[in-house]
Amino acid sequence: MYSESGYEFSTLDGSIFDFDDGSSIASSMSSAVRSNSSMMSNLGNYKFEHDRRYHSYREGNWVVPNDQQEQDRMDIFHQMALLRMGDKLHLAPLDNPRRILDIGTGTGIWAIEMAFKYPNARVIGTDLSPIQVSPPANCSFEVEDADSEWVYPTNNFDMIHTRQLLGGISDWRRFFEQAYAHARPGGWLELQETPPDPHTDGPTPPADLPFLRILSMFTEASANTNRPFADQVSQFTSHMKAVGFVDVTSETRRLPLGTWSTDPMEKEIGRYNVLNFVEGLEAYTLALFTRVLGMTAEQVRSLVDEAKKDICNRKRRWYFDLVIVRGRKPYTDEVVST
Ligand SMILES: C[S@@+](CC[C@H](N)C(=O)[O-])C[C@H]1O[C@@H](n2cnc3c(N)ncnc32)[C@H](O)[C@@H]1O
Repeated sequence: MYSESGYEFSTLDGSIFDFDDGSSIASSMSSAVRSNSSMMSNLGNYKFEHDRRYHSYREGNWVVPNDQQEQDRMDIFHQMALLRMGDKLHLAPLDNPRRILDIGTGTGIWAIEMAFKYPNARVIGTDLSPIQVSPPANCSFEVEDADSEWVYPTNNFDMIHTRQLLGGISDWRRFFEQAYAHARPGGWLELQETPPDPHTDGPTPPADLPFLRILSMFTEASANTNRPFADQVSQFTSHMKAVGFVDVTSETRRLPLGTWSTDPMEKEIGRYNVLNFVEGLEAYTLALFTRVLGMTAEQVRSLVDEAKKDICNRKRRWYFDLVIVRGRKPYTDEVVST
């Protein structure tokens, strides 16, 4: 256990995470986070590496584990995103949607909540890993690789959604072309992403801080794969317009890291984000740094531990961006201005 700057934490299993304002993350965790469990029983199909579990379908394409620890982190991220989105699952204006596709659905938490919100809709969540819990009757999950040819009918979906899919797609332009083809005329595509670029609301931090080092190594290592995490989101709107989407917008909302903000909502978001990073730093770097940078697992874990200390230093006033990009496929008789 590590303690500095008033923070104290252990991993999720320990469930101890006290902040310097006297609150605890336990009060912030939803029951969904605690109750989520894997429906997959044939664990033998998964790949294990340095004590973390990875997907086996299209093995190696997604460098982040699919084990319980990562599933908990995904659900923590979901709660944080909901807070930042004003309790909205999406910003696209949907009117009685019938068919919704969630690509890279993870635990399926967004898809399941959409199925409850829109009982007349059929919601499909796809992922490389079959880790989702049992869904309600109008929701189903399928193992699919969004980097391959999409198997669904064209002109079909009222909404196509992704969140945190950076690092999972080798050719974003092709992704947008396929999303356009499979959306129905008038249907929406919405993406919510958090580029791995740290910002600070305080003085410029020294570049050799372990947290900054690990983030720049992450960018460098993933750029050496064909599914980079960095430098993708800024091109989303131009890709979308180029393939034919209209009403394309990009909106950025900040996700503070830690409880340094005076705004109560941002403070709450900051609590979730600390957990997101404490749980996620190893998940996002272990395979990448050992496979691509040739580091040992011990070296990566030691760097991760150092970086966690920087996260927890509230003087740094870190924040990241949540970027929400959306656009609509025009109606067949719509006159589109170019
Ligand atoms: C960071 S998680 C986000 C999960 C979910 N969208 C959420 O926000 O709660 C990314 C998910 O995308 C999946 N994924 C990555 N690349 C993919 C691909 N090419 N096709 C389908 N799923 C993919 C991963 O397996 C993982 O479950």
